[in-house]
Amino acid sequence: MGSAVFEKYFETAERADTIKCVGRVAKVSGLLVESRGPQAIIGEVCRIEAPKGRGVISAEVVGLRDEVVQLMAFEETDGLEVGNRVIAQGSRLEVPVSAKLLGRVLGAMGNPIDGKGEIEASLAYPALASPPDPLKRRRITERIATGVRAIDGLLSVGRGQRLGIFAGSGVGKSTLLGMIARNTSADVNVVALIGERGREVNDFIEKDLGPEGLARSVIVVTPSNSPPLSRLRGAYVATAVAEFFRDQGLDVMLLFDSVTRFARAQREIGLAANEPAATRGYPPSMFDSMPKLLERSGTSDAGSITGFYTILVDGDDMDEPVADTVRGILDGHIVLERRLAQAYHYPAIDVLKSVSRLASDVSGPELLKAAGSIRRSMAAYAEVEDFVTIGAYKPGSDPAVDDAIAKRPAIEEFLIQEVGERSPLENTFAMMERISGVPIPIEELARGRPAGKAAGAAASALGSAGAPGSHSGRPAGQAFGGLAGDGSAPFPGLAAGADAQAANTVASLFAGLGIQGAAPGADAAGPAAGASGAAGAHGIGGGPPGAGGAGPGEGRGGGA
Ligand SMILES: Nc1ncnc2c1ncn2[C@@H]1O[C@H](COP(=O)(O)OP(=O)(O)O)[C@@H](O)[C@H]1O
Ligand SMILES: [Mg+2]
Repeated sequence: MGSAVFEKYFETAERADTIKCVGRVAKVSGLLVESRGPQAIIGEVCRIEAPKGRGVISAEVVGLRDEVVQLMAFEETDGLEVGNRVIAQGSRLEVPVSAKLLGRVLGAMGNPIDGKGEIEASLAYPALASPPDPLKRRRITERIATGVRAIDGLLSVGRGQRLGIFAGSGVGKSTLLGMIARNTSADVNVVALIGERGREVNDFIEKDLGPEGLARSVIVVTPSNSPPLSRLRGAYVATAVAEFFRDQGLDVMLLFDSVTRFARAQREIGLAANEPAATRGYPPSMFDSMPKLLERSGTSDAGSITGFYTILVDGDDMDEPVADTVRGILDGHIVLERRLAQAYHYPAIDVLKSVSRLASDVSGPELLKAAGSIRRSMAAYAEVEDFVTIGAYKPGSDPAVDDAIAKRPAIEEFLIQEVGERSPLENTFAMMERISGVPIPIEELARGRPAGKAAGAAASALGSAGAPGSHSGRPAGQAFGGLAGDGSAPFPGLAAGADAQAANTVASLFAGLGIQGAAPGADAAGPAAGASGAAGAHGIGGGPPGAGGAGPGEGRGGGA
């Protein structure tokens, strides 16, 4: 057979494919575009060529009717004309993922927008994915440290837990998220800035997060002036990035600001698509999209995504539809109070109005006792506060109130925390011990990381099959190497500066994935990854407790 036969065949195939993959714009109204063809599925990404306009515009298929394809544009549609080519990309929105995302800022479609160049990635994750199989989710039994005393002490958060931060504007949500990002014991942060004003985005990255926070974070930004589809997809892209790191066996902190703006984007799209409004202007699709977004975080069989999702509440209205829907899905809520912010009580967390539903699953009995005692004292004081301030309370009338008044300054000192102040768990617990008089045994600190899991993680990292999925090494302190030792230096990693801890974590992640010198933070990879892995592993695994002598800041590199 001559090659001519094949050529003819290829030609025909090409033409057939062209008809299938390319359509023509027939109508443009706002962000909605209708085209004749191409053949595409709902959710498929298409590129619309606007030669006279701005080059290429991305859009997503939102409806299909006979030959007509309805598209929603990711960007403004000015410059589009009837007859422009619409090219189907063959898949729904996917995010290129790799460890090189750390330290980078991405746009709505997962594209880098920080001017630091392309990001190498050999894998792509779907932006719209299903939550992990509920049966395969690990139960949440271990705590994660946020570095914020009021949370770690009185609203203990489990690894893989999802909480809402409910607050009005300007009460300190972004500042609090920044504190968590800089001080958490999680391996990686993914920060979703959805629908914030452009200025707030820069403020957050430069001021709240800072270079050290950024080095172990991936930021996804879709500002308020971007079209609604882009804000929605940015939220899913951020979640997909978090899922990628969770699949590497890591503990991920997903900081999402804000769910309210995400819900409003969904409302804009619903209204554009003539959906009826159901509750207070929100269409049914908003209520539908909420679990789709929020259920994807949490634990899987590999790692965890701990989620903090902010919700704007106007004037304390916790029953407004978004707040109400979100509260039903999440495992707890943290309420920020304007009254506290005005009194310069930061972080402005109203502890008594806040709940962590998993606190008792991740805390030891003595810590719970201490936290309970402090909460009771706060409640007793709150009841009589007005009388006390005007001097109408007579000391001695009620011993519980007397006690609450006496403890008040220490409790305030515990709750108030400077933005730049780090509070390791041991410090937080020691303060609670002093206030409540309840001794908290050192073992309860360790609930953060039972030796069993740490051993497994270390072993798998050291096993160094080199597969991209192998667990990264962990800083020594997080694994609680010397737990049963003499107690003199029980938690070296926690005591060590969080800088070292962060560097260790990021470094070992890079090492675990076989990457060197890739991104900010990777500079630190050399020494940390080179630290004696074997010694660390012994301390956790087979050897006698504490024998490994994993010193402060000594990381176990992932098979480097
Ligand atoms: N922990 C804090 N310590 C001192 N000031 C704070 C703190 N948190 C917030 N603020 C003040 O409140 C302002 C608004 O905080 P921000 O975090 O941007 O609020 P939100 O994100 O809720 O709108 C900040 O510019 C700062 O002046
Ligand atoms: Mg903010």
